[in-house]
Amino acid sequence: MIVMELSLQRFYITSVLILLSSMLTAVNAYAVDYWNYDNSGGYGPDKWSEYYSDCAGMMQSPIDINTTDVLYDPDLAYFDFSGYNLTNGVDLTLVNKGGHTAEVLYTGKEVLLKGGNLPADYRLVQFHFHWGSTNTTGSEHAMDGMHAPMELHLVHIQSRFSNASVAQLKPFGLAVLGFLFEISPENNTKYDELLSQFYKIQTVVNNTQDNETEIGTFSLYELLPENLDKLDFYRYFGSLTTPPCYESVIWSVATEKIPISEYQLNIFRSLYDDQHQHLKDDFRPVQNIDKRTVTTTKEPAVTEPMSSTQVTVFQCPTTEKPGNSASFLVGQNLNVVLVLLLTIFKVLS
Ligand SMILES: *[C@@H]1O[C@H](CO)[C@@H](O)[C@H](O)[C@H]1NC(C)=O
Ligand SMILES: *[C@@H]1O[C@H](CO)[C@@H](O)[C@H](O)[C@H]1NC(C)=O
Ligand SMILES: *[C@@H]1O[C@H](CO)[C@@H](O)[C@H](O)[C@H]1NC(C)=O
Ligand SMILES: *[C@@H]1O[C@H](CO)[C@@H](O)[C@H](O)[C@H]1NC(C)=O
Ligand SMILES: *[C@@H]1O[C@H](CO)[C@@H](O)[C@H](O)[C@H]1NC(C)=O
Ligand SMILES: *[C@@H]1O[C@H](CO)[C@@H](O)[C@H](O)[C@H]1NC(C)=O
Ligand SMILES: *[C@@H]1O[C@H](CO)[C@@H](O)[C@H](O)[C@H]1NC(C)=O
Repeated sequence: MIVMELSLQRFYITSVLILLSSMLTAVNAYAVDYWNYDNSGGYGPDKWSEYYSDCAGMMQSPIDINTTDVLYDPDLAYFDFSGYNLTNGVDLTLVNKGGHTAEVLYTGKEVLLKGGNLPADYRLVQFHFHWGSTNTTGSEHAMDGMHAPMELHLVHIQSRFSNASVAQLKPFGLAVLGFLFEISPENNTKYDELLSQFYKIQTVVNNTQDNETEIGTFSLYELLPENLDKLDFYRYFGSLTTPPCYESVIWSVATEKIPISEYQLNIFRSLYDDQHQHLKDDFRPVQNIDKRTVTTTKEPAVTEPMSSTQVTVFQCPTTEKPGNSASFLVGQNLNVVLVLLLTIFKVLS
């Protein structure tokens, strides 16, 4: 037993060192600045890691979330979305981002995301979508092997950093909120105002040039499910889902889906990419979850509450808790290490 504990401790220390060095080593050099979602052309997701080495990392996104495997964490807090109501002094720009996505850039007054066990307050910088050509492809994250027709990503950076270019290089620099969509027979009229502007950004000249237009402000609250105060989500640590794939993202994927009609999805699909093809299927395939654990705010409906042993994923690892099986700890170690690191960064910041 003592031998086991010692080797576990060594394991933790080694993990922390490996993780710290991988998180703190800066940008890897890359040969090209071009990428797309087309695996047949030599620049698709299959090839990203050849030019952007972080894309081959061990903490990549998106992932397939096995909803029966996730750990309920009673200490994982809900988000405070009150900042999302801000519309005064905020400027919105709708962008066809080089033919990769439709994005809305936020500038002006800070829209802050708080709570959710984030190590700091995070500032909204943009939100964008990933969508497919069919009803069963499009989302980046999958749930139990199933993809949704679209996924919304709200990208936030730690508020002490000046911009996303800086924040994405920092440990836990970004917090991204993901929402999956489901097809509804009715139009989701809350999206009408945004979608009515899409005709202005239909095409891009090439992938280095965005097509952008200023749009009127609206409360972001409107685009999201009701009852945001109690939004249940899945939490894991991962990466940007596009090159350079930096592993600096705290991911939160909502358990509840947003309705959207097929008519409205077709407005997304009517945009064009830099090859003058319809912009769709702009998603990265799911990545290996490896040693990571997904936790959730959502209390399991039928299964018994988690024992304190299982909840240790969010506490400092101790070796003296009776009943801790070594294999459980080894399986959970990456999360333990990540949560430890998160705590350290919270204290330092
Ligand atoms: C934000 O707006 C929503 C919807 O209008 C409202 O329910 C909520 O109470 C508002 N929150 C704050 C903090 O103003
Ligand atoms: C997508 O879903 C809608 C609504 O369920 C259905 O009417 C339509 O046929 C589906 N389209 C495809 C391409 O599967
Ligand atoms: C989810 O995980 C459970 C237990 O590990 C496994 O039995 C099940 O097949 C997985 N489900 C999917 C959809 O992968
Ligand atoms: C981001 O901020 C850094 C440091 O303040 C600055 O050097 C850099 O030019 C900024 N990048 C962008 C894209 O604005
Ligand atoms: C959705 O909106 C479009 C455009 O206003 C309209 O033509 C269509 O009938 C609407 N669909 C439904 C189901 O209401
Ligand atoms: C933006 O899209 C509009 C509508 O398709 C097009 O007329 C315009 O040329 C595009 N602008 C740029 C800079 O690509
Ligand atoms: C893309 O557009 C920019 C700006 O117009 C131009 O300088 C560049 O040469 C174009 N690249 C390609 C590959 O067409």
